[in-house]
Amino acid sequence: MTKTLLVTGASRGIGLETVRRFLQEPAAGRGPEKGDVSRIVLVARDSDDYSEALADLEAHNPRGVTLSAYRADVGDRAALVELIDEIAENDGNIDYLVNNAGYTNPVALQQVDFADFERTMSVNLYAPFTLVQQLLHRGNHFDLIVNIASTAGIGGRSGWLTYSASKAALINMSEVMREELAIYGTRVVCISPGRTATALRRVLAPTEDPSTIMQAGDVAAVIEMLASPVGRFVDSANLVVRQ
Ligand SMILES: NC(=O)c1ccc[n+]([C@@H]2O[C@H](COP(=O)([O-])OP(=O)(O)OC[C@H]3O[C@@H](n4cnc5c(N)ncnc54)[C@H](OP(=O)(O)O)[C@@H]3O)[C@@H](O)[C@H]2O)c1
Repeated sequence: MTKTLLVTGASRGIGLETVRRFLQEPAAGRGPEKGDVSRIVLVARDSDDYSEALADLEAHNPRGVTLSAYRADVGDRAALVELIDEIAENDGNIDYLVNNAGYTNPVALQQVDFADFERTMSVNLYAPFTLVQQLLHRGNHFDLIVNIASTAGIGGRSGWLTYSASKAALINMSEVMREELAIYGTRVVCISPGRTATALRRVLAPTEDPSTIMQAGDVAAVIEMLASPVGRFVDSANLVVRQ
């Protein structure tokens, strides 16, 4: 049976690399996992980068996977609920959900603007919750939900209060989802990547040399593995992925 994958934050970084991996032909000798995905739903805010990424994906789509792209701010709950209606109508059941979109604005405790803290929670925590809950309300059956947290959610980092707090909450929320959704045959895995060379990492560590750290494609490979037959044997509430 063919599967549909939804990736938030699909315009660059880990999300875009995840979409790229699922477009490719399975390597010789590998299982049919990638071939099972015949539709990919992408979500990110409107930007030239997103349009360019979509054109590039369409140009490198050897299996002819249907790409269904939406432009939306997942941190805007009302807009997200509307978007979920649209996705449920146009794209049908979401089998694999990758809650990847993320936001950070690292500042010291004294400088935290409450509205920005709320924004961080909206994008990093409430959006994954809303996607899962609203799709369940529409009768969606998930095979797999992958929530992308961070090692910053395991140990708080100085200057990263809002981000660390949002990711810690996402790790814990994933555990609850995992327990509650097991009865439906849904696997829930939380991934906590370490330092990965992306735009978001540049915000957190502007002076770091990106060539010395993990690449977005490395994390995407782990996500792909989780959706593969062998991924069923990964029984972990919070999978740390780091170099
Ligand atoms: N890079 C790291 O070192 C690292 C480590 C641990 C965890 N992570 C996590 O990995 C995930 C992916 O981040 P990344 O490193 O790949 O960063 P990235 O390259 O900056 O990508 C972030 C993606 O999220 C999208 N996004 C952000 N805010 C959004 C919003 N409000 N609505 C819709 N889309 C939104 C971005 O698109 P637009 O902004 O254009 O909408 C972009 O596609 C995040 O959850 C991040 O916290 C990253």
